[in-house]
Amino acid sequence: MGLISEDIIRGVIDRADIIDVIGRYVTLKKYGSNFKALCPFHTEKSPSFVVNPDKQIFHCFGCNVGGNVVSFIMRQERLEFPQAVRFLAEQMGIVIPDDQEDASSPSKKIKDDIYKINDWALQFFHERLLTSREPTAQKAREYLKARGVDLEIVKQFQIGYAPDEWDALIGVLRSKGVSPEVMHQAGVVIARDKGGYYDRFRGRIIFPIFDINSRPVAFGARAMNDTEGAKYINSPETPVYTKGRHLFGLNMTKTSVGDEDVVLVVEGYMDMIMPYIHGVKNIAASLGTALTVDQIKLIRRYTSNVTMLFDTDPAGQSAIVRSLDLLVDEGMNVKVATLSQGEDPDSFIRQQGLEAFRGRLKQAQTLFDYKFSWLSAQFDVKTIEGKDKICQEMLATIGHFKSEVSKFELMRLLAQRLNVPEEIIIKQAKGQIKFSSVPTRTSVKEVISPAPVKINQTPKAHEELLIALFLIDHRWAEEAAKLVELTDFTEGFTRDLVATIWQMTQENLEWKTSDLLASLSSEVAQSFISRLLNDAGSRTSEAPRLFQDCIGRIHKDRLKIHKQELMEKLKEAERRGDTSVVEELRARFQEILKP
Ligand code: CTP
Ligand code: MN
Repeated sequence: MGLISEDIIRGVIDRADIIDVIGRYVTLKKYGSNFKALCPFHTEKSPSFVVNPDKQIFHCFGCNVGGNVVSFIMRQERLEFPQAVRFLAEQMGIVIPDDQEDASSPSKKIKDDIYKINDWALQFFHERLLTSREPTAQKAREYLKARGVDLEIVKQFQIGYAPDEWDALIGVLRSKGVSPEVMHQAGVVIARDKGGYYDRFRGRIIFPIFDINSRPVAFGARAMNDTEGAKYINSPETPVYTKGRHLFGLNMTKTSVGDEDVVLVVEGYMDMIMPYIHGVKNIAASLGTALTVDQIKLIRRYTSNVTMLFDTDPAGQSAIVRSLDLLVDEGMNVKVATLSQGEDPDSFIRQQGLEAFRGRLKQAQTLFDYKFSWLSAQFDVKTIEGKDKICQEMLATIGHFKSEVSKFELMRLLAQRLNVPEEIIIKQAKGQIKFSSVPTRTSVKEVISPAPVKINQTPKAHEELLIALFLIDHRWAEEAAKLVELTDFTEGFTRDLVATIWQMTQENLEWKTSDLLASLSSEVAQSFISRLLNDAGSRTSEAPRLFQDCIGRIHKDRLKIHKQELMEKLKEAERRGDTSVVEELRARFQEILKP
């Protein structure tokens, strides 16, 4: 990502409420004028993670991580600074001009071209479905009608029809001046072995796939009968489309997902469209795969509660099982709803209606119950081997929970279900937990779980106090700059920090803490500041005395160093027998010893 202007960064930080943002990831409890929570960055039993709404900062006294809203997102979402700012901006609907985008990602120009091509293609397909008189277009309309997709739905989802020709879209795009190579990059045409190109989508119903900002990124094309070729043909990956990064429909439903604070994740296009039309507005489709980490992160911007509702066939169910550990890794609360054999959300809601559908959602199982029954269907819980296998697989999932309390409770439940003593499960877990049943997929959290922040060049006590005073009232910084030098502070981290604060104070006495945090790139500095801010309040009344003490201490230190230097020079001059220098140094020594 490229540079984002200072103004925009400031705008984003000003408008993002830290309580709001952090509250999406952890449960915040009011605690005086602050909020407390269990730290999302390390495992703990009692909350040492504090969020201060006035100063818009957080700090964990357990692992010493802290900072502002951007630092939180950087850690939580594992993003770099500019990406974290973008992430927040997107949530608040702040547009960051694209011309500042990264030069290392596919160039902005080609991305723009592809969005435009996708848009033209979408319009063309949609138009064809609405108005074309050719018999196959007629057939497409009949097909959709038979599936309960009326004109209104076609318009809402911008569904289209690709004519059964080799170069219908090519012709349209050519007339807009698009070169065949760029059409190819957009994924809408396929290269012939002998040279030249042909339309990728022919004689099919077209479902446009949009990103979270409603830009068309890809297409899914459904055959109109189940005899010819693949049921769906999809866009390949392109500079604007990576499989498993988007969720079909979420661009339309994200607000409802946030409002209802739960998302229903289904598999297919029609599984999303039909319930949506019937009134289920908090829904999105993964498009035929298990959920990916990217998709889960996308969801987590709006809610941390997921209900999975996939096809009842083994493929669908195993996709759910594969999603579970990842969802737990990302701290999501998961439930799993099921339909009867042979049904999918699309067919179910059309046959049985919204109420019956909601009834099924209400009956959704907890992750524990779901996985336990899934395993019980495969292994016989009455045999020793079966019990053992189920125990192992359940412990593998339980090991993904971050909270020790959850782990313990789930192990207790497992002991009950398997009818073995708790101690046995705990013993078994000791040897096993944290190891996923799928050895190739280690939990992302575990691999890059952030190390606690350590400050290497610790500021001296009085320096820390002074910096705290600078934060409480910037006039102390202004005052100190007149009385002491930068070089009076410990070299490294401390001196750099003071330099930044003085600089900001000089430019504008009214600088905001968030600006300071934004300008500090090191995590160490961020955490240090957030800790100071969190316990700074209590010192306000004693501030003048403390300030004098600290400055006095610095002067004393300075004097000590000065004396030492003089003393060394004096000794040196005496050794050389340089009497005039000795005289002069003695005089200077007397001078500084005066009160
Ligand atoms: N899918 C795909 N390619 C296929 C089959 C499936 O991309 N050859 C994806 C599609 O996104 C599809 C989803 O997987 O919507 C679920 O597949 P499936 O259950 O087979 O299809 P349905 O969504 O039920 O499709 P339909 O209702 O149109 O039969
Ligand atoms: Mn279906």
